[in-house]
Amino acid sequence: MSLCEMKELYAELDRYVKDNLNLLLAVEKCWQPSDLLPNFAAEDWLDQLKAYRETARNLPDDILITLVANVITEEALPSYHSWLSRLGPGFDKSGADQGGIAQWMRGWVAEEKRHGDVLARYLYFSGLVDYRSIELSIQHLIRNGFDPLTENCIFQGFIYTSFQERATFISHAGVAREARKHGEHNLARICDQVAGDEARHEKAYERFVGRLFELDSDRCMLAMASMLRKTVIMPSRMMTDGVDDNIFSLFSAITQRNGIYTVVDYAKIMDHLVRLWKIETQTFQTAEARQAQEFVARLPARYFRMAERAIERPVKIPKRPISWIHDRVVNMP
Ligand SMILES: [Fe+2]
Ligand SMILES: [Fe+2]
Repeated sequence: MSLCEMKELYAELDRYVKDNLNLLLAVEKCWQPSDLLPNFAAEDWLDQLKAYRETARNLPDDILITLVANVITEEALPSYHSWLSRLGPGFDKSGADQGGIAQWMRGWVAEEKRHGDVLARYLYFSGLVDYRSIELSIQHLIRNGFDPLTENCIFQGFIYTSFQERATFISHAGVAREARKHGEHNLARICDQVAGDEARHEKAYERFVGRLFELDSDRCMLAMASMLRKTVIMPSRMMTDGVDDNIFSLFSAITQRNGIYTVVDYAKIMDHLVRLWKIETQTFQTAEARQAQEFVARLPARYFRMAERAIERPVKIPKRPISWIHDRVVNMP
């Protein structure tokens, strides 16, 4: 495709995104962190806070670790914003462009910002964690950066975000489920709200990729194969608390064991996207795209088999102190 044709494609995608901006909610209709947290301006603020901390105590450490990692991931939002704005030709050059993609990106970031805010305040008020070490981890993660290997390509970028929004939905919904199970309804309510946003964002990115398949199916197919060949990297891969450079794998192992986000979920997301974008039945022009199609169509089954084998071998949780929870060691049931 020539440069000129790419320009037309970007313009068409931009128009499509503009037509779908209703997948962002009007600011007035959005929940805000203060709707879900103790009201410090109220006369009975101390009673509200005490009641809040009381139920938070029900959370077991292994759920807390997943929650902390989710907070750190959400709080590295500046990295995701700068990554998005670099995709394709750069859709928001001025920072206040009126194109569909520019408006989407800013609206998306504005909605996402509430996730880190509400979860961070919840954790801080709960008194359950060493919040300074979490702050250090956030600062480290933003400094270390974020490279999802999407090569500044909007096709790969939107495939990545489709995958990741679904993954974050699963993770926040999983924390909500576990919190409810342990009688922590405040956190369950917060995570349900966050998960609801992630599900709506997922739908948007999936539509954008659907449009890209219509505009240039071969290029989109190659992009999807390329993304899945590299495996979809978690945005918080480069996190550290400054003590343990391997804290990401510790958190992954714990989250696998507590069942909130597992290898089966990874396979399920892949399967969902393959079905949604009708990979198996699409027709492609080039042999290269047809090979990519074959590779991607077979992947979910391969990953389900790998997940089955992984389930047979229970994950070992290294017994080491974790700074986020005052150096306690996580004991999984
Ligand atoms: Fe989020
Ligand atoms: Fe999201």
